[in-house]
Amino acid sequence: MSTEFEPVTENTALKAAIASAINDAGGALPFRDFMQLALYHPTLGYYTSRREVIGRTADYVTSPELTPLFGAMLGRQLREMWERLDRPESFDAVEAGPGTGILARDVLAWAARSAPDFAAALTYTLVETSPTLAERQRTTLDAEGFAAQSRDSLPSGVTGCIFSNELLDAMPVHRVTVEGGALREVYVTSDGDSFAEELRDPHLDVTAYFEALSLLPGEGCRAEVNLEAPRWIAEAAGALDRGYVLTFDYGYSADDLYAAWRDDGTLLCFYRHNPSADPYARLGRQDITSHVDFTTIRRSGEDAGLQTLGLTTQAQFLTALGIGEALQPPAGERPDMEEFFARRRSVTDLIDPGGLGRVKVLVQAKAAAGPLTGLSAADDA
Ligand SMILES: C[S@@+](CC[C@H](N)C(=O)[O-])C[C@H]1O[C@@H](n2cnc3c(N)ncnc32)[C@H](O)[C@@H]1O
Repeated sequence: MSTEFEPVTENTALKAAIASAINDAGGALPFRDFMQLALYHPTLGYYTSRREVIGRTADYVTSPELTPLFGAMLGRQLREMWERLDRPESFDAVEAGPGTGILARDVLAWAARSAPDFAAALTYTLVETSPTLAERQRTTLDAEGFAAQSRDSLPSGVTGCIFSNELLDAMPVHRVTVEGGALREVYVTSDGDSFAEELRDPHLDVTAYFEALSLLPGEGCRAEVNLEAPRWIAEAAGALDRGYVLTFDYGYSADDLYAAWRDDGTLLCFYRHNPSADPYARLGRQDITSHVDFTTIRRSGEDAGLQTLGLTTQAQFLTALGIGEALQPPAGERPDMEEFFARRRSVTDLIDPGGLGRVKVLVQAKAAAGPLTGLSAADDA
């Protein structure tokens, strides 16, 4: 167990592996490839080498880690989707990027407790690319006696819902800037000891991405381009026979994400709850994340045959599903007030408009319809 006095070391083996990849590539790698290795190097990356990355005692907290009520609200939404699909005998809940597996545990526990008819139809699948985290997810579920299938890629023929929380914002991004009105891409170089950046002509797909949006970031601004996220949504569309794609993630519309006032883009690193803007520090020991472009995500789904049912905020989504009930003081003779206050704090954090409450929730559908309660307060966030 680490202590607050432990020096913040970098992973020197990872640093050497990235330096060697830079060398093999002729002296420079696009920032996207640097980030891919920093987070997902097959054995040394942030997500592939460590089990304790998410949670109150790790580097950052996500909604499912805060309280089981997040899983309960998601469970309510999934059950309604099952009903909208006319209660198929088998409903696939496919969670991509499940982290510690805690959301799966909470959804399955809620269904078993509160919706046994739905629980009987539920088939839960975890899709995780990190073998280390896949093992962690199995441990979480085994401890409670819950079963789920584990895979490293999306299944096909899904009838149900493919969902994710903070998956897209953990995908590697290209970094760009604009010089004299022209797009330039950030490449990473190494002298074996430290990393440096240089600007080169952008990858053709990066140029095409901004052409499709008919915009460019502001002159001199840094910005991120996540090409993986729209591809993943298109893949999810292909995996779905009938049902929904439900995405929780930090992000903005393209106009907002690439607004001229956003000088430094949205790339952020987290180490033990401390944010920093330096992706080259604490290599392999810190998370690197960036906000998602919901305009492109939405369009890529529509191009792949998904209908956009709505975009809302987590605060509105959870409130519509009834999370406010947890704010009522408990009845009964000797209520556990300590537990009530802890629950109230977690719910307040989940819907805080300046914090987790501003996470966006996008619902897309294929051969399936609304209305969905989670979207009932949506004002197209
Ligand atoms: C930021 S964490 C979020 C974890 C969890 N959803 C939560 O909210 O606590 C991102 C997760 O996605 C996984 N991941 C990254 N890329 C993936 C992909 N293409 N398919 C499936 N999982 C992926 C990571 O290994 C990690 O488990």
